[in-house]
Amino acid sequence: MLKFDFSNLMADSVGQSDGLTANDISALAESAKGAHQKFNGWRESREAIFFDVVNDPDLTRGIADKASEIASRFENLVVLGIGGSALGLRCLAQALLPAQWNLRTSEARGRKPRIFVCDNIDPDAFSGLLDTIGAERTCFMVISKSGGTTETAAQYLVARGRLKAALGDRWKKNVIAVTDPARGVLREIVQKEGLDSFPVPPMLGGRFSVLCSVGLLPAACLGIDIEAMLQGARDMAKRCSAATLDENPAYRIGGFQHWFDAKKRKNISVMIPYSDSLMLASDWYAQLWAESLGKEGKGSTPVKALGATDQHSQVQLYMEGPRDKVFTFLGVERFRADDSATRISDAEGAYAYLNGKDMGEILRAEQQATTKALASQGRPSMTVSFPAVDARHMGEFFMAYETATAFAGALYGVNPFDQPGVELGKKLTREMLAKA
Ligand code: PA5
Repeated sequence: MLKFDFSNLMADSVGQSDGLTANDISALAESAKGAHQKFNGWRESREAIFFDVVNDPDLTRGIADKASEIASRFENLVVLGIGGSALGLRCLAQALLPAQWNLRTSEARGRKPRIFVCDNIDPDAFSGLLDTIGAERTCFMVISKSGGTTETAAQYLVARGRLKAALGDRWKKNVIAVTDPARGVLREIVQKEGLDSFPVPPMLGGRFSVLCSVGLLPAACLGIDIEAMLQGARDMAKRCSAATLDENPAYRIGGFQHWFDAKKRKNISVMIPYSDSLMLASDWYAQLWAESLGKEGKGSTPVKALGATDQHSQVQLYMEGPRDKVFTFLGVERFRADDSATRISDAEGAYAYLNGKDMGEILRAEQQATTKALASQGRPSMTVSFPAVDARHMGEFFMAYETATAFAGALYGVNPFDQPGVELGKKLTREMLAKA
């Protein structure tokens, strides 16, 4: 199970003016009662369907078969989608696939496809990718819950043009859509063209959807153990159904961050994974936290960092800059590479302190040292420890942070499941393009 350490948020560690006291926690435990009720109300109304959908026996129906068909037919899997339709998969692929996946031979990839997640519509990047991989041996998976997203529509139409040019009428065999089961333009296209498709459970919004077909289907194509991931998510959901702050780790994550914003004006939430595998966990988190909570003048700003890299870039600011941040460290207890692969045995002179150490050990020491250094300057942090970065712990992580975010939404008094602020930009884009 993931381990959560909140000790460096406490006044004992970071001082009275920057940390939580026992009295603060008692007061927060009181407001947590109302937020717990609100969260349960969202579960009943199915707005928080992410929490229960992992128990739906139909959730993975057809995924294993379709994934092995895609893996056997295609060398490349190109996922077209943006926001919540891309970030969960990006994070999963970075966390769970062996390093340099796309550079490995098909044999070394276990005959699974290369993966390209195209969220942006940069013309150089997109056409460069299409020119490089070719269309015939590529499966294009178009993921859009609403079906109406301009970027995804543009990607689909450009890719379809290339496919038609290369394959003629056979283009449809290289496209699969993941979208709402009944509504939206993409569903209409699926029906009209007879495209292969998978449904996204109704009511499940993009940034909460990594544990449904949106994340599970492409992950399964890459050989990721989606059953283990769902088991991890279910176990964490059980842990996070506890009513009290004391027993519920997600309530502590969301509750403490809200408290630091409300009481200490620390409204920047910095996530620092100390592992390249977890590097994109902070991208996924940033969208979840920002788009769910940034409403009605409220919310805290997520910032992405990477340990140890950003010790040489951002940590100066974190140590001595404004006292407006709460830090989350993601640490790894056991890396996939054998310790001996990076163990140093012949360091001399000023490097002698590295003798006998492996890179995992050095990275963990740097994480602990940075945590301690920040605490000494009154900069509060919490730590999430992954016993290993595997499918099961990723499932736990997603569930814990989705629940924490929804719970924080209840404390902020905002609806974490909508995103009214992004609608105007979308509408204006459509209007401008239609006029032009
Ligand atoms: O979390 C969200 O709801 C958004 O970030 C969406 O995922 C994003 O806008 C893409 O939407 P769609 O999947 O409908 O294309």
